Amino acid sequence: MAHESQSAARLSIDESEIELPIIAGREGPKVIDVGKLASQGYFTYDPGFVSTASCNSEITYVDGDSGVLLHRGYPIEQLAEHSDYLELCYLLLKGELPNAAERAEFDWEIKHHTMVDEKLRTFIQGFRRDAHPMAVMCGIVGALSAFYHDSLDINSEEDRLRTAMRLIAKMPTLAAMSYKYPLGQPFIYPRNELGFAENFLHMMFATPCEDYEVNPVIARAMDRILLLHADHEQNASTSTVRMAGSTGANPYACVAAGIAALWGPAHGGANEAVLNMLDEIGDERNIDKFVAKAKDRDDPFRLMGFGHRVYKSYDPRAKVMQQTCHEVLNELGAQDNPTLRMAQRLEKIALEDSYFVEKRLYPNVDFYSGIILKAIGIPVELFTVIFATGRTPGWIAHWNEMIGGGYRLGRPRQLYQGHQRRDFVPLEQRQPSESIGR
Ligand code: CMC
Repeated sequence: MAHESQSAARLSIDESEIELPIIAGREGPKVIDVGKLASQGYFTYDPGFVSTASCNSEITYVDGDSGVLLHRGYPIEQLAEHSDYLELCYLLLKGELPNAAERAEFDWEIKHHTMVDEKLRTFIQGFRRDAHPMAVMCGIVGALSAFYHDSLDINSEEDRLRTAMRLIAKMPTLAAMSYKYPLGQPFIYPRNELGFAENFLHMMFATPCEDYEVNPVIARAMDRILLLHADHEQNASTSTVRMAGSTGANPYACVAAGIAALWGPAHGGANEAVLNMLDEIGDERNIDKFVAKAKDRDDPFRLMGFGHRVYKSYDPRAKVMQQTCHEVLNELGAQDNPTLRMAQRLEKIALEDSYFVEKRLYPNVDFYSGIILKAIGIPVELFTVIFATGRTPGWIAHWNEMIGGGYRLGRPRQLYQGHQRRDFVPLEQRQPSESIGR
């Protein structure tokens, strides 16, 4: 990893000058190493981490201006065309593409970790039927740490790898259980003769009364959805996994923290928010009104599924997803579905409207994945669970890289704006407080 200091930045403050090493990575902007600033009496201030690199990584590279996404150097478009989700899991975890024997062994291993302990059924049954599946996922993934004491030594590479396999293999099983539970349907066991995405669809849509015949176009679309979500460098949920991992917490707990972070509508919850927004728009005739609301600075409404913190050009994943979306809509003859028609109109308007063009707000990956999932018949509340399932190899690869590569406890600092020191006031002397809720 390129990590040697190549030059230095000089920061002048009052009379003094502080020299800060500049470090070049293999790709992307150089970074200024500010680690020594604290000892000089300064912190840096960067809410939202817009200009802050929080770690070294060799896994994924994103160039948001040019719309580039590389996993271990391989462009996402090539991976989507020539590879599949499980092979990408291998690549993210191990750093290289597997040869045929390695691939077969990896597939075998994953298949033989797909079942979950029967006690997890009882655990899930403790939730209300109307619990949001992401709430269920936060709980049950964290709970896995109570079932696999045999491999929780984070300093053992073998344990870390076994945990990674378990998580990748079990997430679809858990996701399908979180789908079946509110329906009141029995959980469906995994089947080893099926491919990864096929098995996932089988566990969701089969019942003990009848098999579910997996449509290959839908299976391919599901594999692509998982593949396109597999990793995206230091996004909010992955950074959360790393932060939790930096305390030495067990990997299941760290991934549960990542799932919680993913849930929000500014991150993985966006695919659900897209469909909720389309419901709210209700009719094609209302689209212009909602586009106007999105453009109004005084209105908090935003077009869900548009814009990205990093991509200021077309998200390369969205391009692949758009193509898959059209394949699925054609296959299912869903072009006439009013919600899906509305989504297509919205996409066209936003791509042509000067507000979105000037601010470089393109449809993102969640815009299309939401539409595909809706067309497949997956309920909206489950969309973010599918994202979480796909993102699991990314989370666990980053956690493994961090733990295996040396790390420090993550502990950001702050710009304190509260009261200065003041003396405690006894209860009987206190005035009504005006500052409650500050
Ligand atoms: N609709 C309308 N205006 C928008 C939108 C939108 N979806 N997104 C950004 N803007 C405007 C925003 O109001 C701001 O305008 P101004 O400069 O006049 O104040 C400008 O564009 C820049 O926005 P920002 O909030 O400073 O950009 P950000 O990088 O902080 O936000 C974002 C990125 C993804 C949170 C935001 O674009 C957004 O809220 N999009 C909708 C939610 C969404 O689709 N999220 C999924 C992201 S992709 C999946 C993932 O990575 O998890």
